[in-house]
Amino acid sequence: MSRLLVEGKKEISGEITAQGAKNSILPILAATILCDGESCLKNCPNLTDVDFSLDILHYLGCKAHRENTTITVNAENFDKSTVSDSLMKRMRSSVIFLGALLGKAHHAEISCPGGCELGARPIDIHISSLKKLGAVFERNDDIIICSAPDGLKGCNIDLRYQSVGATENIILASVLASGTTIISNAAREPEITDLVAFLNKCGAKIFGAGTETILIEGVKKLTGAEHKIIPDRIAIATYMACTAVTGGCLTVYDVIPEHIRSVIPFFRETGCVVKCTENELRIFAPEKLTSPELITTKPYPSFPTDAQPPLMSVAAVGGGITVFVENVFTNRYNHVPSLRKLGANIIVNDRLAIVTGVKKLHGTSVNAMDLRGGAALVVAALAAEGTTEINGFEHILRGYDRSLFTKTDENTYKPNF
Ligand code: EPZ
Repeated sequence: MSRLLVEGKKEISGEITAQGAKNSILPILAATILCDGESCLKNCPNLTDVDFSLDILHYLGCKAHRENTTITVNAENFDKSTVSDSLMKRMRSSVIFLGALLGKAHHAEISCPGGCELGARPIDIHISSLKKLGAVFERNDDIIICSAPDGLKGCNIDLRYQSVGATENIILASVLASGTTIISNAAREPEITDLVAFLNKCGAKIFGAGTETILIEGVKKLTGAEHKIIPDRIAIATYMACTAVTGGCLTVYDVIPEHIRSVIPFFRETGCVVKCTENELRIFAPEKLTSPELITTKPYPSFPTDAQPPLMSVAAVGGGITVFVENVFTNRYNHVPSLRKLGANIIVNDRLAIVTGVKKLHGTSVNAMDLRGGAALVVAALAAEGTTEINGFEHILRGYDRSLFTKTDENTYKPNF
């Protein structure tokens, strides 16, 4: 287990360029196996989840390599449609290879992604949707065997919930299918729009991404393409949170304001001044933070669940009371016990968390239980007096670029900010 040592009370000011979006590069890497040719992906973040995806592509017979923030993939030697259990278990989001393998090889064998720290994480919507396209599923133990003996045929799919992963898997499975697929109640996240932008550059015919209705006209083949990954809206919200709790002033480059529109009001309600231009954002923190009253997480374009943990740490040192309602995941308050250990005053009841701002947090040893919970601990540690040791730092490296940290010994890192 690795750890991050954070010195508190250091003002976070200056400038940073936003990393590429983790939740965009992951489905796009899966999409490259559908392409007959080389894809060149730019602005790729340096994350362990990206490393895991490259390991899966190599295992499937693809050529894939990274040079700084550019990743090139060529699937011409793609020769396997099963993903080994060990590779699958390293990353829940490897379930996104299900749709791509089915779309490419009409066969996929993956192990159940299993639950994760955020709750059960079922994939019933993925499976029921892919069945409508003609997929047949078998299961032995925790291996899912999925095939399309009669090929994949476009159809109308109405999602019971705007699942991001299920929307992506349907797109990946139907882009080379015969006929047209229409997804109703589709997820609208910007990362889906980015996946579709890449696929359309490769020759796909997909319309409506970013709305609740997406139409996919099946095509015969896809070439590779060059594509720049969009900036990571959750990483940007996290940089803003670090600035807010340390009284700093930060400029963030390569921002798409539309993607973070739902978190900016939170920061303004804490007393921060936030100014956006076409592709930059500046945040100026006040001496003393006030408290937003209510934060309710929902699918995009509402307030994003992934920003809830780091922004809870801002509320933890606010001047009043903030109520959080977590509507997306059943178990997304794993960071609360460690925040309490740092001195936060938080009461949790099912999906509700009531955060009463305190004057001070005090550095201590805490444990990150998941990626965004770990980010919450970094934000709180920056606000705290003294040094905080965050164990389980490997969770944080799944989603925040390695360039933000320096290794100081075998298992210890420190922030570069
Ligand atoms: C994606 O997860 C993101 N991951 C998550 O980011 C993000 O929190 C989530 O979307 C919501 O925005 C990636 O893109 C790799 P969902 P995903 O399917 O696709 C239930 C991070 O920190 N559900 O929209 O798994 C599910 O249990 C990660 O970057 C079903 O019931 O999200 C959950 O309660 C965390 N059945 C809710 O829907 C299904 O078949 C949201 O799931 C699928 C989902």
